[in-house]
Order: sequence, then structure tokens, then C-alpha cells
Amino acid sequence: MVVNILAPSMLAIDFGHMEAELKKAIAGGTDTIHVDVMDGMFVPNISFGPPVIRYVKKSVPDAKLDVHMMVTDPIRYLDSMVKAGASGVTIHYEATKTPAEDLKKIREAGIKVGLSICPDTPVSAIEELLPLVDMVLVMSVYPGFGGQSFMEEAYSRIAEVRRLSDEKGLDLDIEVDGGINLDNVKSVLDAGANVIVAGSAVFGENTEENVRRFLEILA
Ligand code: DX5
Ligand code: ZN
Repeated sequence: MVVNILAPSMLAIDFGHMEAELKKAIAGGTDTIHVDVMDGMFVPNISFGPPVIRYVKKSVPDAKLDVHMMVTDPIRYLDSMVKAGASGVTIHYEATKTPAEDLKKIREAGIKVGLSICPDTPVSAIEELLPLVDMVLVMSVYPGFGGQSFMEEAYSRIAEVRRLSDEKGLDLDIEVDGGINLDNVKSVLDAGANVIVAGSAVFGENTEENVRRFLEILA
């Protein structure tokens, strides 16, 4: 059965109030935090790594940490992500020469296995890898920065992943990340997604209330 999940992206947090903001998101009713790790190589931005993730885990110990690795050769950091508290690790198809081996290593680590594709990568590129994963992350912006506009092309890509998942009897989680807000989230769900990442539409003046509103639509 597909369960809808909201994964607020902590990239949009005011880091001066990180612990309080994380707690507000959890108080609003979500049980997952999306953690964007960027290396300045795979994407033209640097975010944070294990020390910050450990602090997130300490701040909201019961939250699942959905770690999105926008990092070249991401498997180098698998152990440190697991030790820092990752519940799942999503790697980019474009960031590794050995996606199947990497996905198997994440599986062996005993956490949720995710595979992401950038907007220009055809869904067909990952078809053979789908049996190795729990979740596909369809990017609806070019990765690297929060606050960008949702790319409409994502709808048909989400639907294509859902069709392949159904055809193969895989029951995959389909996550969508980038430019999702209270106005377009319903369309994203209708296209076939069930894990919604939202950063700038969640964290800010009314974090707790924003989470509640998203969850009402996801219910
Ligand atoms: C972009 C990141 C996203 C981003 C989403 O590279 O992967 O998770 O923080 O932010 P919004 O919701 O503001 O587009
Ligand atoms: Zn992300």
C-alpha cells in the first residue's frame, strides 16, 4: 500500500534556529526530514555533512532522516551517513559509474535505498535498476538550490516511474523534490508521487502550520 509522506527539506531552515524549526516541523505532524547533502562538485553548491546531520538526529531523534546525496561518487560517504543517523540514502544515477553496486551497498547497510534522476535524464535510463531500490526520486528542478520553480515536465516522468513500478510489481515510493508548494502538491500526488519534499514552502514564518496544511492534502 502506498503511504503519502511529507519530507520537509532542511536546506530551507534558518540555521540560527535549526533545532526549534525542526521541532516545529515534527510538531506539525511529519515524521521525516529531507537532508540535502551537496559537495560543490556534482552540484554548484555546498551544504552540510555528517556533523550537521548528527545534530539533526540529536534534535529530533524520532524523525526519519531522508538523505539526498548530491555528491559525486556518493558511496564514499555511505558509512558516515549511516553513522550520522540516515534512515535512507538516495544517490544520483548521474553521480556514479557503478549505480547497481552502490545501490546494493546501501541495501546491505540496512537502510532505505533511493535512486534519483535529474530533469534531463530519461526515466528509461534507470529501468533496469528499479528492482534494487525502495524509492525513486524524480527531481522537479535542477538540483543544487532551494526556492526554484517546479518544472512541469516532471508530471509525465512521475507517471512513467509509477507505470514501471506497477508493471514490475515493485510498489516503489516515488519522491518528488523541487518547487513543490500548497498549490501544486495535489497535482504531484495525482501524477503518482507519494513522497513530497518541500523546503521553502515549509520552513519560515509558520513552519508548523505549513506542515499541517501539506499533511491535510496528503491525507
Ligand atoms: C534542491 C534540493 C531540494 C530543495 C527543495 O537541490 O534537493 O531538496 O531544498 O527546496 P524547495 O522546496 O524550496 O524547492
Ligand atoms: Zn533534495
